[in-house]
Amino acid sequence: MCGIVAYIGTKDAYPIVVKGLQRLEYRGYDSAGVALMNGDLKVYKKQGKVADLQESTKGQDTTGNIGMGHTRWATHGAPNNENAHPHLSNSGNIAIIHNGIIENFATLKEGLEARGHKFQSETDTEVLAHLIEDVMVNSNLELADAVRASLKQVIGAYAIVVLSKDNPEHLIAARKGSPLVVGIGEEAGEYFFASDATPLAEYTKKVIYLNDGEIAIVENKEMTIKSIDNVVQTPYIHELELNLEQLEKGGYPHFMLKEIYEQPKSIFDSYRGRFDSSTGVFHMRSLEEYAKQLAEIKRLILIGCGTSWHAGLVAEYLFEDYARLPVEVEYASEFRYRNPVLFSDDLVMSISQSGETADTLAAMDLAKRKSATVFGVCNVVGSSIPRLSDAGAYTHAGPEIGVASTKAFTSQVTVLTLLALGIAKIRKTMSADKIATVMQELERIPEKIEKALELNDQLIELSKLYKDAKNFLYLGRGYNFPVALEGALKLKEISYIHAEGYPAAEMKHGPIALIDENMPVVVIATNSEHYEKVVSNIQEVKARGGKVIAVVSEGNKDLSKWVDHTIEVPETIEPLSPLVNSIPLQLLSYHIAVMRGCNVDQPRNLAKSVTVE
Ligand code: G6P
Repeated sequence: MCGIVAYIGTKDAYPIVVKGLQRLEYRGYDSAGVALMNGDLKVYKKQGKVADLQESTKGQDTTGNIGMGHTRWATHGAPNNENAHPHLSNSGNIAIIHNGIIENFATLKEGLEARGHKFQSETDTEVLAHLIEDVMVNSNLELADAVRASLKQVIGAYAIVVLSKDNPEHLIAARKGSPLVVGIGEEAGEYFFASDATPLAEYTKKVIYLNDGEIAIVENKEMTIKSIDNVVQTPYIHELELNLEQLEKGGYPHFMLKEIYEQPKSIFDSYRGRFDSSTGVFHMRSLEEYAKQLAEIKRLILIGCGTSWHAGLVAEYLFEDYARLPVEVEYASEFRYRNPVLFSDDLVMSISQSGETADTLAAMDLAKRKSATVFGVCNVVGSSIPRLSDAGAYTHAGPEIGVASTKAFTSQVTVLTLLALGIAKIRKTMSADKIATVMQELERIPEKIEKALELNDQLIELSKLYKDAKNFLYLGRGYNFPVALEGALKLKEISYIHAEGYPAAEMKHGPIALIDENMPVVVIATNSEHYEKVVSNIQEVKARGGKVIAVVSEGNKDLSKWVDHTIEVPETIEPLSPLVNSIPLQLLSYHIAVMRGCNVDQPRNLAKSVTVE
């Protein structure tokens, strides 16, 4: 939600900031703006995409070696020019960009208005710009101290960058609850700031992930990191493992398609080096260090949002089958406000691509306070969720930029499979042979996905037939019920066609009423324990005139006499079938969205990383 980027050094700031904003645009794209310091403080902002901002700055003075920029996902106030960031203080001397929500902004604003402040926007952010100036003037503080003092009055989440006309060599940044990464440039005194590391990758490999409650002050070419209480901190400098190729489309028309095609590799990277087939040993720090607790846990609670929640639903089947653990799967946003009953022998596992989803973080925090062991399964290295976890595992899918999650989902399922097997081993609920057999099959999945990707042409033809449908129904049972949910989510996210995922047998308790000849029904009917039952559900749809697109196991020619279309995918064992079966559903939604002229990588109203509740 909202992307922020800033630069201070000797280079021209504008191109660095704008390029950074383009890399962060997946976080929000309803308006964008920049502030540049070159003696004077210049601010340009524009409703729309970063490209619209660039267009509007043509011919303007964009010089300056200090600059910051913002791409917005609206929370307070409509997406328009006035509400776009940066926001200015009352005098116009201080500029701020902000990601997060200032919950007590209305109270702060009232006080400031009573002291004569005039506001130009409806945003919570503008209040903070005014507050900093108010504190500076009334308490006679230097800029950095005024920022600290102001932040102490703020309730809510923020990552901010502040520039001031009166302090032309300064840049102040701070975070609480929203991410902020600092890149250390090659030249002395050169620093980059961004919501995540992607804009930094082309300039530096040395990064610092600011901790909550920290403030970075760059002053006269030196950076100091302090706590909000003014205690100097010693930051840990991480080595960044991102390469530029991962951040480009690499010849694909959209990031989403590139990421769909990357799945043979991303799944491989998710399990690579984590299981030694000659010894049967899992090499995962969380399993090694927490073996004693894992042997004794009584319950597993999986937490996530959106697609990550769907990965949790697949994992429910995996952990119950393999580790024989009672499992609950929770929407983080519900769990955190429910006063859940938790015990110290519960294991809570948060699943997140970005590692920054506000609700997931809050749910983890609650679980920790209630003394559960908390694991994180996360894609973005160094993000907040792994840092808040006791242990966990990275999914290693590489950067996912398309807003609709694809490879992150299959990597999450892969890592959750490893954890389920590893915990099964610790709890002795599966034999070493059985574990080895599943692992052998997991190692065949990348090749099977390669084959599933060859279905692309068939899916283009199917998309042509169904792109104008108003509704879609997705049905699956067992391990493939979450795949139906995920298939429906993909379609509605990027094509804006209403779609529902349902457990196939549950259809007769409601959705069956919707079925007529205009309703395409995608049924996952690959070989499984429930295959015959799914076939009966298909008959129920066909009896009511629905159009059935069935995903079946390769070689299944029987079903074609009952259904309108079959999509044959390589066969695998049922617990791993979500990995393969997701592929045609991803491709179907992708092509339908493209044919409907939708912006696949940046669907309306959505953001990739939801850092507000
Ligand atoms: C947003 C994204 C989804 C994602 C969800 C959870 O809604 O658009 O693709 O599944 O957040 O995000 P996380 O980063 O926690 O997996």
